[in-house]
Amino acid sequence: MKFFVDTADLDEIRDLAATGMVDGVTTNPSLVAKAGRDFFEALQEICDLVPGPVSAEVTATDTDGMLREAEKLRAVADNIAIKVPTTWDGLKACRRLADEGVMVNVTLCFSVNQAILAAKAGAAFVSPFVGRLDDIGQIGMDLIADIKQVYDHYPAFKTEILVASVRHVTHLLDAARLGADICTIPPNVLRQLIRHPLTDAGLAAFLADWEKTGQKIVKD
Ligand code: G3P
Repeated sequence: MKFFVDTADLDEIRDLAATGMVDGVTTNPSLVAKAGRDFFEALQEICDLVPGPVSAEVTATDTDGMLREAEKLRAVADNIAIKVPTTWDGLKACRRLADEGVMVNVTLCFSVNQAILAAKAGAAFVSPFVGRLDDIGQIGMDLIADIKQVYDHYPAFKTEILVASVRHVTHLLDAARLGADICTIPPNVLRQLIRHPLTDAGLAAFLADWEKTGQKIVKD
């Protein structure tokens, strides 16, 4: 499963990219506002740091406006993926961009119907928001399972399932169990993946016992 980092914070991206585990980045207008940076400057720096797909979301709501904005965003770098909302205008923009070979990430997806339309529109990625479905008492991961089941019937669907609105490590684990292609992960959740108390305790015990030997692997 590919890991994208879900943030526009350059320090976070720089730190996590150094692990070699970051396959891409997703941003959205809220994350850009939170980062407090010039959008185009931040995008350029992100694309320089991460060679994989970097999602940049349009803010227009009409197809022609989206296409105009997409042209500006695509000029930033070759690894820019254009993010459009799951609306008719967004899908029409997706179709036009996909026909030009542009990576499109259809976002704010909350149903299988929407995911089917995204695939028909030629999206490179569809972003179902699992956390926000959980927020209203539904089971967000059920949507991932349903999309995966439908997509698996149609090899012509090339759209990758990009699990978004991830709030905790269980979302990531369930996404992996379901065979989702990508998970876009907030930095704090990504860092939680490594943590286990038995690892910490075991390492401390190893080092304490080693200390007693008085030996060094690398002599001073
Ligand atoms: O990529 C979408 C993600 O940023 C939305 O997350 O927690 O605002 O639902 P959240």
